[in-house]
Amino acid sequence: MQTVRDSEELTRRLAGLRRNGTIALVPTMGALHAGHLALIAEARRHADAVVATIFVNPTQFNDPADLARYPRDEMRDAELARAAGVDLLFAPAPEEVYPPGFATTVEVARLSAPLEGAMRGPEHFRGVATVVTKLLNMVQPDDAFFGQKDAQQALIISRLVRDLDIPARIEICPTVREADGLAMSSRNVRLDPESRRRAPAIARALHDVEARVAAGERDMRRVIDAARSILTEARIDPEYFEAVSADTLDPVAHLGDRTLVAIAARVGDVRLIDNVIVSPPTAP
Ligand code: PAJ
Repeated sequence: MQTVRDSEELTRRLAGLRRNGTIALVPTMGALHAGHLALIAEARRHADAVVATIFVNPTQFNDPADLARYPRDEMRDAELARAAGVDLLFAPAPEEVYPPGFATTVEVARLSAPLEGAMRGPEHFRGVATVVTKLLNMVQPDDAFFGQKDAQQALIISRLVRDLDIPARIEICPTVREADGLAMSSRNVRLDPESRRRAPAIARALHDVEARVAAGERDMRRVIDAARSILTEARIDPEYFEAVSADTLDPVAHLGDRTLVAIAARVGDVRLIDNVIVSPPTAP
């Protein structure tokens, strides 16, 4: 596995890989965990070569303290990426991605407004959409892999690729969880022991939503109000706990096909997000 830092070197290496077949891209911000490694494994199954990127994208951090605290360990990440079968690792410096005079941004209207957009402000998804567009243009992969854990991000990326005619297939992979249900996240390492014990309540609340829907409940306000007690017991006060259409992110009062139920909550001083997609139970 080669690590490259500038886009010219990246383009040269990609030409070699492209001669030998298809290329899959897995963009990350590093601090790799089993969720990232599952994306890389899926990319391996799809393509002849896998390109991963590690770039802690400053423009998507609405909170400077969060950017400063974001875990970084490139040596460890490079070793994990190599062992997982990455062929080429692109780890640029911020100036490489945002040269002086950088002035263009990508904004996906409507889909960026609710949930994470409402909590973190418009710069968050503008930063994500812009950097992902750049990475897709720099690497020009056949397929690019993203996680369902960041459901709104995955939806926004799928939409921008369609709207801007970017010739890459976007693949969304299931959320990888710890044994107790907690969704894997690079931020989990910052949970203090007491917060780490409380954090799985988020996944349990989502599991409760799935169980109530499977039992035939369709009033999403009632489903969420009932599941909320699991968060309350763990002394978690969510920033949002909402049911929306998984395709439009419009609020859903009555369970429809593919309803996204998403939670964001601060546990200790770590902000966590998780979600499930539920649909009406199919008649036997
Ligand atoms: P990062 O948080 O490092 O996540 C990189 C990719 O891994 C994203 O597609 C994310 O959805 C996926 N991922 C994270 N945790 C996961 C889990 N538990 N199970 C499955 N997939 C998981 O998301 C970003 O970086 C950035 O916003 C990025 C897309 C790289 C743009 O800067």
